Amino acid sequence: MTEAPLACVVGWPAKHSRSPVIHRFWLKDLGLAGDYVLQPVEPDRAAAFFAGFAGGRYVGCNVTVPHKEVAFAAVAKRDAAAEATGALNTIWLEDGRLTGANTDPAGFLANLDETVPAWDADPGPAIVLGAGGAARAIVWALLSRRFAPVHVVNRTPQRPKALARLFGDKAMPAAWADVPRLLGQARMLVNTTTLGMAGQPPLKIDLTPLPENAVVNDIVYVPMETELLASAAGRGLRTAGGLGMLLHQAVPGFERWFGKRPTVTPALRAAVTRAIEEG
Ligand code: ATR
Repeated sequence: MTEAPLACVVGWPAKHSRSPVIHRFWLKDLGLAGDYVLQPVEPDRAAAFFAGFAGGRYVGCNVTVPHKEVAFAAVAKRDAAAEATGALNTIWLEDGRLTGANTDPAGFLANLDETVPAWDADPGPAIVLGAGGAARAIVWALLSRRFAPVHVVNRTPQRPKALARLFGDKAMPAAWADVPRLLGQARMLVNTTTLGMAGQPPLKIDLTPLPENAVVNDIVYVPMETELLASAAGRGLRTAGGLGMLLHQAVPGFERWFGKRPTVTPALRAAVTRAIEEG
């Protein structure tokens, strides 16, 4: 008898991850054998963990902070999104070799495609707040849907410059002081910073200059309705929250590990929302 497939999320600490809730929901919903667990790995053990992965008990994993770079270096093959963004979050075995993907760009796009119909019908300039790993995935995703230029706004100037080097002159570094001026032309505003997240400082932006057809996306999902989303909705703008990206980025990994493509349903949203509310 073959063993039921086991996947995990690798991080340090790993206990804050919502991924087990998502994958266990799908396993149960689809009636599949298998499990998905937390796998904490200390930073100084990460390289050895991935080096021994193919001979271990897992069919694949998600990778979260602080191991994304070590994982990127450890895989034998990467998908286009991982190569383009220099980061990966999903690993599986192909002929015994570690293969990695960055599913964040597809997750970001799938959430907008699902929740904001025709959001990319008339692409133009975009603003991305933040310049970390999530921002890299989102800039690449927006460029793939022909949004340009993408202004990358960050507190510290070095990170958006590195991002601009990755994507050429279509990703333009900007400062917070530039935001009021940039808003006037923007079709899309995405928050990828931790501002507005529970326990973090608020994100205060006057959205008045944004055109009426602009879309506002906050990838923060605790709380689900951030101040940014509330003020965009108050202005009648189309909005998308962060939970959908979290759910959609999980789809490709599940399909690789457990053999069936799952869907993001209202029942899944409700289950993960409950888990978040319970802390
Ligand atoms: P992720 O990988 O999820 O994108 P990250 O790499 O930690 O996370 O990035 C967090 C982002 O939030 C960064 O852009 C960070 O700005 P800096 O690069 O200047 O640190 C931004 N951020 C966090 N706290 C902030 C604050 N108080 N004010 C402005 N930006 C903040």
